[in-house]
Amino acid sequence: MELSKFGEKFTRYSGITQLMDDLNQGLQTPGAIMLGGGNPAAIPEMLDYFHQMCADMLNQGELVNALTNYDGPQGKTKFLKALAALLADEYGWPITEKNISLTNGSQSAFFYLFNLLAGKQQDGSHKRILLPLAPDYIGYSDAGIDDDIFVSYRPEIELLDNNQFKYHVDFEQLQIDNSIAAICVSRPTNPTGNVLTDDEISRLDHIAQTHNIPLIIDNAYGTPFPNIIFESVKPFWNDNTILCMSLSKLGLPGVRCGIVIASEQMTKAMANVNGIISLAPGSLGPAFAHHMIQSGDLLRLSEQVIKPYYQQKSLQVVQWLQQAITDPRFKIHKPEGAIFLWLWFDQLPISTTELYQRLKARGVLVIPGEYFFFGQSEPWSHGQQCLRMNYVQDEATMRRGIDIIAEEVNNAYVEA
Ligand SMILES: Cc1ncc(COP(=O)(O)O)c(C=O)c1O
Repeated sequence: MELSKFGEKFTRYSGITQLMDDLNQGLQTPGAIMLGGGNPAAIPEMLDYFHQMCADMLNQGELVNALTNYDGPQGKTKFLKALAALLADEYGWPITEKNISLTNGSQSAFFYLFNLLAGKQQDGSHKRILLPLAPDYIGYSDAGIDDDIFVSYRPEIELLDNNQFKYHVDFEQLQIDNSIAAICVSRPTNPTGNVLTDDEISRLDHIAQTHNIPLIIDNAYGTPFPNIIFESVKPFWNDNTILCMSLSKLGLPGVRCGIVIASEQMTKAMANVNGIISLAPGSLGPAFAHHMIQSGDLLRLSEQVIKPYYQQKSLQVVQWLQQAITDPRFKIHKPEGAIFLWLWFDQLPISTTELYQRLKARGVLVIPGEYFFFGQSEPWSHGQQCLRMNYVQDEATMRRGIDIIAEEVNNAYVEA
């Protein structure tokens, strides 16, 4: 098969595809302990709610209506209107439905956005997306139609009490010139659970506005839904911000609904890309979310069910980890949101890729840290000392996984 340049790039068996294969195989292996993937937790109250919502929507004809009709290329109009009203109400943002477009999952929104802005330009120059704080979401890393579309910067590390730490943007290092097409951050961050402070966001916004480039904020875990954010920070949007949201972490990854809140100009651009690539985004996700807005359940469930569920779980799992691994070189990034814990084994004599292999051999699947440091000019040993684990499994599974991680980490330290 002779492939185009695009074909060659997008058919590569990348490191992350291999890891996802592992995770998928792990899912089918009885007894495997899956701490690697990003599936949201099966929260019983949410499952019951979705069950009832489907029944109600079926009775009212909304479900079959969504199944049997295309929406427009910008996405379901009644949802766009209801969401714009909700955000304007909640946060006072000056937005209307002309500022919102939908995509088939926010992953595809990032594909559109990065390629609309970065890579080969019309004048022949090459532009990149600047990630001010690595590590960041691995799902961005292969999204460029052109190679080499990211530049990322190491964070400052603040050591906290209780063997925890927190990353901060190192503003001194950031270099912005006209080869930068946009700034992008996930907030809360996948993989670390970090939440950029209000001050960091306002400084990034200032830099973006000064250079006349957009600030993309990936809000897949943030407010007002699914609200898996444990710090009280201000939600942020203005006309220069592209805020990406998703229904996935609310518990609906299967509907593949991404939401992009941006200037009217960018919204039109996204709708036009949708028309070409998918005719229209899927109708089911926005039909569900519209129903949840109308009933007042979207924000209520996010605040009263989803957020406390993850917050309690993360605190509990941090405690189990700290009881199991008492070596002072072991530290955990302060869990401020999202569904992962980021573990740092300082001075670990083996890389976490090797640790990943040893854990995999014992049926525990995690993700080695180095994959999240794409866009860096030089390798950094810190990345090879970290790993990401999700904390969404049940207690027995989490405890078994943690015991095995503790044994392997302690063995690795002793080997040194
Ligand atoms: C930070 C972040 N952004 C975007 C996505 C993409 O999610 P989806 O395409 O399901 O909306 C994910 C998925 O895990 C994520 O963690």
